[in-house]
Amino acid sequence: MTILCDPAARAGHLSPVVGGDVRSAATLDEAARLLASDPMETLVVVGASIDLDVALTFASSLRLERPAVGVVLLRDVLDVAVLTRALRDGVREVVARDDLPALTDACARSRALSAQVSGVPQPRQDGRQGQVVTVFAAKGGCGKTTLAVNLAAVLAAGGERSVCLVDLDLAFGDVGICLRVEPVRTIVHGLGMLGHVDVAGASSLLTACRPGLSALLAPVEPGDAERIPAGLVSELLAVLPTMFDFVVVDTPSAFSEHVLAAMDSSHHHVLLTTPDVPALKNLRVTLDMLDLLSYAHDIRSIVLNRSDAKVGLSMDDIERVVRNDIRAHVPSSRDVPISVNKGNPIVLDLPKHPVSEAITRFAAEHVLAEPVVAAKTSKRWFR
Ligand SMILES: Nc1ncnc2c1ncn2[C@@H]1O[C@H](COP(=O)(O)OP(=O)(O)OP(=O)(O)O)[C@@H](O)[C@H]1O
Ligand SMILES: [Mg+2]
Repeated sequence: MTILCDPAARAGHLSPVVGGDVRSAATLDEAARLLASDPMETLVVVGASIDLDVALTFASSLRLERPAVGVVLLRDVLDVAVLTRALRDGVREVVARDDLPALTDACARSRALSAQVSGVPQPRQDGRQGQVVTVFAAKGGCGKTTLAVNLAAVLAAGGERSVCLVDLDLAFGDVGICLRVEPVRTIVHGLGMLGHVDVAGASSLLTACRPGLSALLAPVEPGDAERIPAGLVSELLAVLPTMFDFVVVDTPSAFSEHVLAAMDSSHHHVLLTTPDVPALKNLRVTLDMLDLLSYAHDIRSIVLNRSDAKVGLSMDDIERVVRNDIRAHVPSSRDVPISVNKGNPIVLDLPKHPVSEAITRFAAEHVLAEPVVAAKTSKRWFR
């Protein structure tokens, strides 16, 4: 979205010029109100009819308060004095009022700069696709969110790689709480994009969480979860890998249509269990279900959470039920819920902790190191 502040211009008319949807504001006060109500807005185009001094005061205060927002200024006449003052006060570009191609370019450059400042990635220039990792367990409380959040933080490696964590637990998602970020924009704001999700649209839904780590958060209002169609999930999971090295998906504990849409888009299925009979039984059912749906075996990793819990089951008992290698053993520790309460993933809070080491090793050996197979090695045969 772009805010166009020019009483003389019609927003709809300029939409194709600035790229994307345009909201109009008659005054800069109104533009400031629109900005305040939308923390993801990154561009204000200030029309030629707005007084220069007022426009420059607006730009210089925005530079301090919202550095990710760019101001592009339109003027009737471009002269060196105006350009110098405008750039000194934080205006990103000054464009002649009728030079529409120059305005298009200036808006694109400003958006790219905003994306760098806010940490939300742009589409890759090399066309390479990121990998989608879906974390699932059919039994609630196994540690899906814990693993998804920590795996995403490890993969981001402090900004070395770009990672988007998607909260598909649409009714009860707690990724925002685990990372202590405000759910101002959530997947529910993507409803209007259904059928035409693009990079700009997907970016506008994201919340920057840590260096390299963004999140697509779950809705917060009761009833909003039911409004999200699985098709929106598929569309988002097609676009996000064009922007991020990794997309990690946290899920609810049910084989919903949305979970299956994520499974379809995934390069890795991380299936979680704990060492107790109900969780193991549910994992067995999950594995049989995935087989029935013809998903490839080699994209599967089974992770045993709370692996050291003394509950009367031996590793042999567990492997007999699972009939697969267990690729990571994550021990139980009260430091895990402590890190959740602090809003800082344990891998960042205590990187040498045995829980952090187990998740880091799993990421290194099975997510980063393994060759990437096609996202859908096999497709489901019904919907
Ligand atoms: N290895 C661990 N050691 C100790 N506590 C853990 C461990 N893993 C998860 N927990 C705790 O168990 C609880 C459930 O974990 P989590 O929320 O990650 O599970 P979930 O599978 O996402 O649950 P839900 O099905 O409700 O979404 C949380 O309080 C979490 O802090
Ligand atoms: Mg959860």
